Amino acid sequence: MSELSSRTQRTLYTVRIKNTEHQFTVGSDETILGAALRQGVELPWGCGSGVCGVCMGDILQGKLEYPAPPLALFEEDEARGKGLFCVGFPRSDLLLYIPEMSG
Ligand code: FES
Repeated sequence: MSELSSRTQRTLYTVRIKNTEHQFTVGSDETILGAALRQGVELPWGCGSGVCGVCMGDILQGKLEYPAPPLALFEEDEARGKGLFCVGFPRSDLLLYIPEMSG
């Protein structure tokens, strides 16, 4: 998919949270957190803008994309598979590990 078409076409992806029953859909044009809250899945969060790091979890499968590098996500975090779900947009189906929820 080209960069242009990924911005103009809305794709729906599925997000699952490991060790929980939680599964929800997220459009390519919305954040993981926004989609979760809209569907009644209470992900942990604080600032909602990529600053505090409260929403950080592990991306076990799949890919997120950020409009701009989030302040609370250091390169080494990203290299270890961490993601910030309040500002991350899905680019594939995702399997996430969120310590507060996944146990
Ligand atoms: S909620 Fe603060 S960084 Fe995501």
